[in-house]
Amino acid sequence: MTDTTPATRLREATREAHRRVESVPAMRRLLSSSLDRDGLRATLARIHGFLDPLETRLALYPDVAAIGFRPRAALLRTDLAALGWAATDIADLPRGGPPDWVDRPAAALGAAYVLEGSRAGAPTIHLRLTATLGASDPAAGGLSYFGDLAGLGEGGLADLRRALDAWFARRPPADLACAVDSAVRTFDRLYQWMLDKNVWVASEP
Ligand code: HEM
Repeated sequence: MTDTTPATRLREATREAHRRVESVPAMRRLLSSSLDRDGLRATLARIHGFLDPLETRLALYPDVAAIGFRPRAALLRTDLAALGWAATDIADLPRGGPPDWVDRPAAALGAAYVLEGSRAGAPTIHLRLTATLGASDPAAGGLSYFGDLAGLGEGGLADLRRALDAWFARRPPADLACAVDSAVRTFDRLYQWMLDKNVWVASEP
């Protein structure tokens, strides 16, 4: 394990949690050939409820921006508007509670890894959505969140991994442990949020 880099440790520690999130019906629906625009809207609204408060918290930590993190909740709102919701509907969407596990820079880096790393899976999902919904015409709208692939830069996931490795190289080992814990929690909280039956999202099947 001594030659395991921080980015690899984050990946390995969250592998199972990533699989769990992928298995949530609202996520699987994105890859289903029976997905329609209402289903897409409901899933995007759910993701938004988790992402928006977490991005607001991450904005408090300058190191998060320094590793190349780019927020995407605004893209979700653009998509939801393109899919037919009024600004007031979007403003009233349910949101998760404050991300209280993000309480220091290392924890913020762990959560940012999860959100920024999720861009790596976005091309697979975007390709599928484009095929299913026939929305290769950008005017059809609703696909900018998954279509926004520029955020990782030309090096993609490799750039993010390099930035994380450089950041943790300057920090004590306890910071990496904190980030790993935060990354696992971020996935787990997202999992719970996506399944929470007490949260009502209009047009959710
Ligand atoms: C239907 C749902 C999902 C699918 C199909 C999916 C698919 C993928 C794929 C194919 C990769 C690997 C890309 C590569 O190595 O080039 C990946 C990576 C990743 N995904 Fe997902 N993903 C999904 C949902 C999510 C969600 C909801 C999150 C978190 C918000 C997430 C976080 C990540 C992270 C952090 C990585 C980078 C792993 C690493 O360090 O190598 N994914 N995903």
